[in-house]
Amino acid sequence: MYEKIQETASWLRERMSTNPETAIVLGTGLGQLASEITDSYEFSYSDIPNFPVSTVEGHSGKLIFGKLGGKDIMAMQGRFHYYEGYDMKQVTFPVRVMHELGIKTLFVSNASGGMNPEFKIGELMIITDHINFFPEHPLRGKNFPTGPRFPDMHEPYDHALIALADKIAAEKNIRVKHGVYVGVQGPTFETPAEYKMYRILGGDAVGMSTVPEVIVARHSGIRVFGISVITDLGGFDVPVEVSHEEVQEAANSAQPRMTEIFREIIKRS
Ligand code: HPA
Repeated sequence: MYEKIQETASWLRERMSTNPETAIVLGTGLGQLASEITDSYEFSYSDIPNFPVSTVEGHSGKLIFGKLGGKDIMAMQGRFHYYEGYDMKQVTFPVRVMHELGIKTLFVSNASGGMNPEFKIGELMIITDHINFFPEHPLRGKNFPTGPRFPDMHEPYDHALIALADKIAAEKNIRVKHGVYVGVQGPTFETPAEYKMYRILGGDAVGMSTVPEVIVARHSGIRVFGISVITDLGGFDVPVEVSHEEVQEAANSAQPRMTEIFREIIKRS
């Protein structure tokens, strides 16, 4: 696998005119941040050697390079989900490539179902921790030499970046919540009993991504900051229907607030 990562990284390096140390993964319905990137150049996933190709509606599938908050960044518009049929090595391949390219900080975003009764649709949850419910671990198999066999996970989401995000949100009057993200396989949304179970287990929101990428980023020594947009609610007494369209719509309305926080953190850190 290392040869493939190197091959992809070299292919990109030969074509890159910038030196990003920050990467952003844009989740479902959260691709708009890309339009704020200046001096940009991009590569379609289908043109990048060894890159899987994204299949879900709302994920257009390209790697965008340029500037945000005055810094060089790279952004993934569209990610690879386990439920699409990719294995964990494929889901996390872009993060391995990012590490190879010299990325030091990873911003992740996603849409999720809120289970914390204080959450409202469209709110931003700063991810403070996660629970891994995926059926396959991304580090399963021979240990990859970027990190130890048994990686520490006591601070998966960087505390200093969370504190900075809180400060920025307060200054800009953006309402943010903190919470634990539960990562599940999908593609079904949860049954009422499942939402309740994940809540009892300590989760505030549940979604179908992010956890694999964050694990590989931490194993590679990349610090992580994450925002989850609450796009629907589950686990309450009266169960309500959830649809992909609804998720995209709620994510869409939250995009400017998320972009503002990401941009300001990048500018100040
Ligand atoms: N559950 C799982 N994944 C999701 C949800 C949800 O309620 N909302 C958006 N992604």
